[in-house]
Amino acid sequence: MTLYGAIQQACAQAVPLADLRSKEAAYRNILKGLGQWVLLLPSKKDYAMKSFAQKVAVVTGAGSGMGRYLAILLARAGADVVICDVNTETLGETEKLLQRYNVAVSSIPLDMADKEAVEALPEQVIARHGKVDLLFNNAGVTVGSDFETMPETDWDWVMNINLNGVVNATRAFLPYLKQQPEAVLVNTSSIFGMIAVAKQSVYHTTKFAVRGFTEGLVREFKGSNLSVHCVHPGHIGTNIIKNSRFTETDDAEDQQKSLLGINGSQTEMSDLFRNNGMHPSRAAQIILDGVTRQRSRIFIGLDAKLMDLAQRISPMHYDKLMPLFMIPITLLRNKKPLKDLPLS
Ligand SMILES: NC(=O)c1ccc[n+]([C@@H]2O[C@H](COP(=O)([O-])OP(=O)(O)OC[C@H]3O[C@@H](n4cnc5c(N)ncnc54)[C@H](O)[C@@H]3O)[C@@H](O)[C@H]2O)c1
Repeated sequence: MTLYGAIQQACAQAVPLADLRSKEAAYRNILKGLGQWVLLLPSKKDYAMKSFAQKVAVVTGAGSGMGRYLAILLARAGADVVICDVNTETLGETEKLLQRYNVAVSSIPLDMADKEAVEALPEQVIARHGKVDLLFNNAGVTVGSDFETMPETDWDWVMNINLNGVVNATRAFLPYLKQQPEAVLVNTSSIFGMIAVAKQSVYHTTKFAVRGFTEGLVREFKGSNLSVHCVHPGHIGTNIIKNSRFTETDDAEDQQKSLLGINGSQTEMSDLFRNNGMHPSRAAQIILDGVTRQRSRIFIGLDAKLMDLAQRISPMHYDKLMPLFMIPITLLRNKKPLKDLPLS
């Protein structure tokens, strides 16, 4: 045996080579994670779906906003889409908008709060399309109210849709997603899953939880055929206020605390919110780009990125920093839809 061979053998006996390699990989991961944290880069996944053609995608809350445009962009990219929503009227509108694409579309009325109906959904999808490659847990609502005065029924309404709906759908679809050579799970949290404002306690409870749930799954499925993503939109101009429940108030102090610092009737607030946010078609494109670019955490909008940064700089007083950038960003953001899409 050569001297080199003897040294190799001695080292291998003391610390098996495989152990050293795994230690080296672990240290590399730690350094990579630190670098990402310092540079505020979202973490990249090991594996990514590069094309949506010939895939089958399920989108919840597809009757409006980001869900509608996710369905449209997926269909434009050649995916068959299964659209679900509790609102059958707006679901029908999305179905019509999808007619121009040469893909199979299934429209399924569904209340995400109905556990049995959610559990029955995968079988319906398999019966109609034979498989499922992507699940977008997008449906969501909110209640604008102080915790103290919020009726328990409102609390449960949001919890059952935003959190239990996401968990139940994930559990129901996992066995089918895992059968595919490459599969994608996208759960929509919010930038309100990272920072908190007054009068949104139930929304924060669900969106922080969706983030925790999803980030756990990112790690559980790391390196597998299932790629898991968590979405954190900033202000997107959708119907979310129209579709949610709000307590109206004239109180000046309440006015300051309310969403965006504005107040008025739910219709006025809804119009203002819809007209001043990023167009949902742009948000949907950012989500799909995040999937193909392997982003575990997908921020939508400069407002979301800066709110996240403010939270990292000042974990308990970020609200003091937010007025510095929220108004200019709201005025300057691109509110126009993407070109060449059917508009609702
Ligand atoms: N708009 C924003 O600024 C914003 C910001 C952060 C996060 N989000 C999140 O993005 C997601 C999409 O919201 P959006 O802004 O497009 O709102 P939206 O109201 O335009 O669309 C949400 C859709 O979900 C549907 N829905 C509501 N309750 C349902 C239920 N029980 N079962 C099935 N469908 C139901 C609604 O009918 C609607 O069609 C939500 O999870 C929301 O919390 C939105």
